[in-house]
Amino acid sequence: MTGARHADVVGTGSALPERVVTNDYFESLVETSDEWIRDRTGIRARHFATDGENTSDLATRAATNALQTAGVAAGQVDVIVCATLTPDNPIPAAAVRVQQKLGLSCPAFDVNAACAGFSYGMSVGTAFIESGHAETVVVIGAEILSRVLDMTDRSTCILFGDGAGAVVLRPAEAPGVIGTVLGADGNAADILLIPAGGSAMPASAETVAARDHAIRMPNGKEVFKRAVREMASACRELLEKSGYTSDDVDLLIPHQANARIMNAVADRLGIGGDRAVVDVAEVGNTSAASIPIALDRAWRAGRVKQGGLVLLTSFGAGLAWGATLLRWTTPEPAR
Ligand code: UT7
Repeated sequence: MTGARHADVVGTGSALPERVVTNDYFESLVETSDEWIRDRTGIRARHFATDGENTSDLATRAATNALQTAGVAAGQVDVIVCATLTPDNPIPAAAVRVQQKLGLSCPAFDVNAACAGFSYGMSVGTAFIESGHAETVVVIGAEILSRVLDMTDRSTCILFGDGAGAVVLRPAEAPGVIGTVLGADGNAADILLIPAGGSAMPASAETVAARDHAIRMPNGKEVFKRAVREMASACRELLEKSGYTSDDVDLLIPHQANARIMNAVADRLGIGGDRAVVDVAEVGNTSAASIPIALDRAWRAGRVKQGGLVLLTSFGAGLAWGATLLRWTTPEPAR
């Protein structure tokens, strides 16, 4: 390779647990309805892992799937980066379990930026490739959020699902990954959090009884507003610094939190209709996994065109957010 070294996405994959949980499941747990959930979030169903199925299992399936799509042998992988807030254990990293399941001995570590994790993971994976420290990086987003839900809290339990998505990054002479913008605001750390299980509130009988190990979102409306504002502004900043406008974008893939949030981001950017991927209906909010799952499903549906400009954007607890701009080089799947 002669000129500057760039990173390119050469394959995607995803994995969802088999068990599908429709909205009516929650009607027996909390005061809610299928109609409310569909109207306010766009979600009709989500997948929940079964007992014994762990984050690294889904992550390994997604990574294997992405490597197959890319036509890259697992043995070629130099680094595994897994974005997750629900690793199998607090330590070791979920990525290390993926490495073991793939039969590899390469470096492997997790990135935790909550629902923005895939943007952060992509920037780390891209840096490995651009710096020449790796030839093949697998970036995964994987979550089993059903194990950190308070099934008595209607404002959160209906939102989330389990799943994993992955991409394979390889070096290229032209930029596949054109650029990244990342942001965070710790002033708003307490509007979306899991209170217990860390050093601030170690696990105890009391924390378990109080359900403090589950996701809490005391001000969903504020999270909603900030999500729209930060994703739209990260996208604008990234397009501007990359020399593009919204008109140039072929596909926008926002974090799949809530259809209303995604439609508002698409509206603000003027990227509507078929150019925005809203794929939350059957999957729910899968946090760090949502973008690579939506990307893989869109690619398999023939919506991600070779040569197209693809804009990914994320937002979540931290608060943290990000955007990644891709020139898509992988051909559409054979039909
Ligand atoms: O992935 C990380 C980022 N997370 C997000 O982006 C989530 C952002 N927030 C949201 O998506 C929305 O705020 C929610 C979907 C969580 C809630 O929708 P909303 O339109 O903001 O509703 P709200 O919180 O203003 O609540 C309106 C009403 C309230 O009742 P009252 O006070 O008006 O009587 C809630 O108690 O809806 C009630 N409500 C529900 N009703 C039926 C909240 N959750 C439910 C529910 N079923 N599941």
